[in-house]
Amino acid sequence: MNLLVKNANIIDSTQNFFGDIYIEDGKIKSIGSNLIIDNVEILDAKGLTVMPSFVDTHAHFREPGLTYKEDIETGSKAALRGGYTGVCLMANTAPICSSDEVLQIVRKRSKELNLIDIHQCLSVTKKFDGKTLEHLDELKNDKEIKAISDDGVGVMDSLIMLKAMEKAKENGWVIMSHAEDHKFSKVDMRIAENMMTQRDIYLAKETGARLHMSHVSTKEAIRYIKEAKDDEVNVTCEVTPHHIFLTTEVSNYRVNPPIREKEDVNAILNAIKHGVVDCIGTDHAPHTDEDKKKGSPGMVGLETAFPICFTTLVKNGVISINKLSEIMSKNTSKILGMNKGIISVGLDGDLVIVDLNKKVTINSNEFYSKGKNTPFEGMEFYGEVITTIKSGRVLYRK
Ligand code: DOR
Repeated sequence: MNLLVKNANIIDSTQNFFGDIYIEDGKIKSIGSNLIIDNVEILDAKGLTVMPSFVDTHAHFREPGLTYKEDIETGSKAALRGGYTGVCLMANTAPICSSDEVLQIVRKRSKELNLIDIHQCLSVTKKFDGKTLEHLDELKNDKEIKAISDDGVGVMDSLIMLKAMEKAKENGWVIMSHAEDHKFSKVDMRIAENMMTQRDIYLAKETGARLHMSHVSTKEAIRYIKEAKDDEVNVTCEVTPHHIFLTTEVSNYRVNPPIREKEDVNAILNAIKHGVVDCIGTDHAPHTDEDKKKGSPGMVGLETAFPICFTTLVKNGVISINKLSEIMSKNTSKILGMNKGIISVGLDGDLVIVDLNKKVTINSNEFYSKGKNTPFEGMEFYGEVITTIKSGRVLYRK
């Protein structure tokens, strides 16, 4: 449990220095240079960079019910391989996570495995029926719930969304929005996202609820979010690695929201640069080859997020590595109420060791995830995850 990481280039959202980090009983106990501690495991990170591990606001582990695509164990191991030690799981399992029973299945399995910190979202509407909210009252004393979401479908009825936001506010929960107006999904996916983004911002303003916009992908939606922030609406947002790297010019990979135009990607990059985007959410969405052939949207993301984001954002000069740490670790931890995300005494001893000079070629055969569905196969990026440490335990080593 006690680990001394030595000789590292240590980077988080505000710091950049060479030194050592000592983790005792799962927490960061001291930070300094030439730390000497007896009888501990020593990890020499010379030549490598140590950052707070990554935390994902948006992933699908498919347990219970859809474990042929992914389960909590394979999802957790994929997370660790990608440098993640915390994830927020969406509710579109089978059955949908609308009850204490499903919450307990996920929490029990996650405790047994003891690999990463898992927050399971409760659905906004019961079984995603778009109208029933009673389960939110039944579970209002569940202190482990931090966020609710109908990801995958969204909430179409505006009055229901208003009531859900009121309940989320009452219970101190973040309401995560998959912004898609289904009436427009088959007509125009841009209008579908933009309309719902505007609606949810408006309702958040009215109710004062804590709104988090998931996987923002259009130039208009990110502009509405910027305006809302200027207007002091209580809103945060995430963008995915695929929406900052792919454009329709190079990919028509099926994902929801879809891959967008170059202007959208540029607007999102600009918004990251100017602090409008709070965080990266992978939208890790494992599917079998067969399900992909049948049209299931989404791609796996946990094992490719860091190299894609590091290359696209830092190597290409959009933001600093500190800012990347802020949006992959600090802000995501804050949104999920996790005690990590920066290198500071007393926080979880969750670290990732990366080689920023190393080129990686994406090879889905190497994925720990059951899902091999990636549009990045064979592509080269900089930044390899070498080691992932959770509460002072080395749980992934390349
Ligand atoms: O592409 C997607 N896949 N978008 C979603 O909203 C859901 C996800 C999934 O669950 O596969």
